[in-house]
This record gives sequence, structure tokens and C-alpha cells, in this order.
Amino acid sequence: MSDLHDLCSFGSRPVTDAYVAQLSYYLKSGIPSTYTVEEAYNYTHDITEEASTNTTPLHLICTNLPEDLTEDEVAVCNHMVQILFEYGAGWSLIDANNETPGCILIRRKMNHLPIYKQIVEAGVRAELLLRKVGEFDMEVIEDTDDLNHDQFGDAVPDLVETEGTPEDVQKKEVANNTSTEKESEAEEQPKAENEVDDAPDAPSQNQESYLSTKLEYVDNALVTKDRKDGVMMAWETDLMRLGCDSLFKGAEIEQGEIDSEVNILNIGFGMGIIDTMINELKPTKHYICEAHPDVLAKLKKDGWYEKPNVVILEGRWQEQLDELLSSGDVYFNGIYYDTFSEHYHDMLDLFDYVVGLLKPHGVFSFFNGLGADRQVIYEVYKELVEIDLANYGLKCTFKSIEVPASTLKENNKSVWDDVKRSYWSCPVYYHPEARFIDI
Ligand SMILES: C[S@@+](CC[C@H](N)C(=O)[O-])C[C@H]1O[C@@H](n2cnc3c(N)ncnc32)[C@H](O)[C@@H]1O
Repeated sequence: MSDLHDLCSFGSRPVTDAYVAQLSYYLKSGIPSTYTVEEAYNYTHDITEEASTNTTPLHLICTNLPEDLTEDEVAVCNHMVQILFEYGAGWSLIDANNETPGCILIRRKMNHLPIYKQIVEAGVRAELLLRKVGEFDMEVIEDTDDLNHDQFGDAVPDLVETEGTPEDVQKKEVANNTSTEKESEAEEQPKAENEVDDAPDAPSQNQESYLSTKLEYVDNALVTKDRKDGVMMAWETDLMRLGCDSLFKGAEIEQGEIDSEVNILNIGFGMGIIDTMINELKPTKHYICEAHPDVLAKLKKDGWYEKPNVVILEGRWQEQLDELLSSGDVYFNGIYYDTFSEHYHDMLDLFDYVVGLLKPHGVFSFFNGLGADRQVIYEVYKELVEIDLANYGLKCTFKSIEVPASTLKENNKSVWDDVKRSYWSCPVYYHPEARFIDI
């Protein structure tokens, strides 16, 4: 531990502005805000190997925040975190317990504190920035060898000097490959013994590979045949009911006035749970877009092709919706999106079609599994999707629903028992409903 780490462990009370002054002093002196306990240890023990975990000052703050903080102390701690972020602290770095700072606050039931909100906001900023960097193909400096580390020298307090100079400020963060749903950054989760790694070409990560993978309908689930990845599971039935109810809200033109033609589009048939609900409500036209051959075979077998009001769009929505939009034949009161093996950037592409195909009073909803295998990431993506939809002129509101306890892995008997990888580990589901802003 260095002096910086000691400071963030709150050895003395009360926590006053002296903490802020000391923290600012260390950071101004050149100690990186992401200087880890592991790096300090390796330095003092002459270990050259890079540590695989990152216990940063922010982790220490979240771990050591006293539970009985006064209001004034909360304000000071919040200020410390603000300063750490100004100096580039990472919101999603993982410590030896596989926890981000936000995970620690959640575990300690301290996520009502403003520090947690700062962490979520830092996550949103980081994601928006990364996207811009990607858009413009900008170079990110990763090799810090040629940066001037001497800045760390004379100015730092004695104890820190003896504890060492961090040579490398690169850190491993939670992978930012958040998917739109039934998979996300699970490689960062502790792996069960029978769990296999998610290579970039694994069906859960890669559409081409998914679409050529055999699927199997088993009790209460649709899974990939070999790996037993959960594509769709019956525990989501209540969430599908919410989705279906939202779609039909878009049938109302004005209060009490129902549209003469109610058209619904569902993207991703899976187990047909939401489509069964939609069809029972007899929309004028019920479009189903589905890409996987095994699921299309199921649609055929179960007679969906013969239903008079059903139109099946065979293929990926990326191609099918393009044709539909160009034809100008149909506009929808409700659009639902729930696919597999797609990522958030796919969903951003979908928004172009949503605004083109939705009637002015229509509703867009989706299975909100964005980042749902880690609660803090789930909350970051809740904010992000709200911002992104607003950029398309859609206001997204969320209803919070408790999910069945059987979806939480810590339970003795869980829905994941026969499934190789889980895609959900949050206690609350945020059900989204988006409408055009001036409606
Ligand atoms: C999670 S399931 C949908 C479950 C459905 N909401 C239900 O209630 O049963 C996802 C479905 O999306 C389909 N899918 C995946 N990518 C797609 C794409 N690009 N276009 C159309 N369908 C896709 C999958 O084959 C799968 O059937």
C-alpha cells in the first residue's frame, strides 16, 4: 500500500476536507489516479510481472467508506471521487474479487450514495467517448513507456516515493462489448467450471456463427445445441407480457381513439412467447422477422405461416427492414426487438429503421438485457440507451420490475442450472417504452 492507498482507506475520522487536499496533492504530484495496490506491492517486492487485477484508489474508497458517514463526510468522499475521475480514474476496472468500484457499493448496499451515481455517469461518459474514438478511427495511446514518468520524482511525499513509481497506467477494464441482450460481457464474470470461453467467433458473439449453429427447443428454453447457451428462456414470460402491453399502447392515436389499422412488428421469434401474446390481441397485421433456419422451421411447424394476419420476414432484420422501409407499404403501432448474438452498435443501427417505420403515436420496446450480467453496467446502459433514443427524437421511460429469484445465480436452484452461460444477474428489470418526444 502507498500513502495514496492509505488515504483512501479512511484510517482516521472524521473525513474532512484535509482528505481532499491530500488526495489532490498526490494526484498533482503525478501519481496516477489508477495506481493499484497490486502495482505498489509489486514495486516494493521487486516483482516485474504485471498484476492481473486492479485494486485502484476508487476500489479502496468504495470498500472502506464507513457505514456511519455524516452528511458532511459523504460530501467530502464524493468530492474525492470527483477529483479521482478528473484525473482519469477507471469506473470499470476489476479487483481481485472480480468487482468494479460500483459492484462493491452495490454489495455493501451503499449504492444510494452520490458516489455511485458518479460512477454510473463516468461509465456513460466513457462509453460515449469510446464510441467517438471508434467513429473517427482515432488512435488511443496505450504504450506509456515514452511518457515522462519522472514527473513523479521530487514533488511526491516521502512515503510514496519509497513505495514506488507506477510504470504502467494501463489497466484491464470490464470489456466493453455489451450486447443487446442474451449475452454480454460474461467473460468478465467468474466462470463456472463447466463454462467455456467466449471466443469472438462463438455463436453468442458472432451472428454468422450463430446462424449456422444448431438450436434445440428444450423444456422452458431455446438453447444452442452444442454449448447450451440460452437463446430464450421461459422465465422472461412476464417481461414479454410487459413488452406486448407496451406495443398495443401505440394503437391509441389520442385518448380513447384507437387506430383503424393496428400493425405490430416483432423482431426475433425465439420461443414465440411475445408473438403468441401479440397474436391473441388480433392486430391488423402482425409482422415477425426471424433469421435462424431452425426457428423458421418451428414457425412453419406451428402453423404461423397460415395465420391470416401474420407476415413472416425471413432473414436478418438488417436486410428485411431495409426492404420494408423502401417499400413504404406498412407503418407500425408497435415495434419490439429481442434478438441474440447482437451488440449495442447493432441496436443503434436499428434505431434508424425504428424512426422510419414507427407511426407518430407508435411505441418501440425491447428486451432490455444490455449489460445485465453486472448491475452497474446495466445501469450505465439504461442511461446510454435513453440518451441515444433521445438523439432519435424518442423519449424512453423505464418501469422497474423485480425479476424471479430463480434468475439469480446465488440461489440453490436457478434457471441457469442446465444452461452453460447465464446472461442475467440483476435483481431488477428496467422495462423500456419509447415514443416520439412530442406525442
Ligand atoms: C431471444 S429470442 C426472441 C424471443 C422472443 N422475444 C420470445 O418471446 O420468445 C431471439 C431471436 O432472435 C433471432 N435473431 C437473432 N438475430 C437476428 C437478426 N439479425 N434478425 C432477425 N432475427 C434474429 C434469433 O434467431 C432468435 O430466434
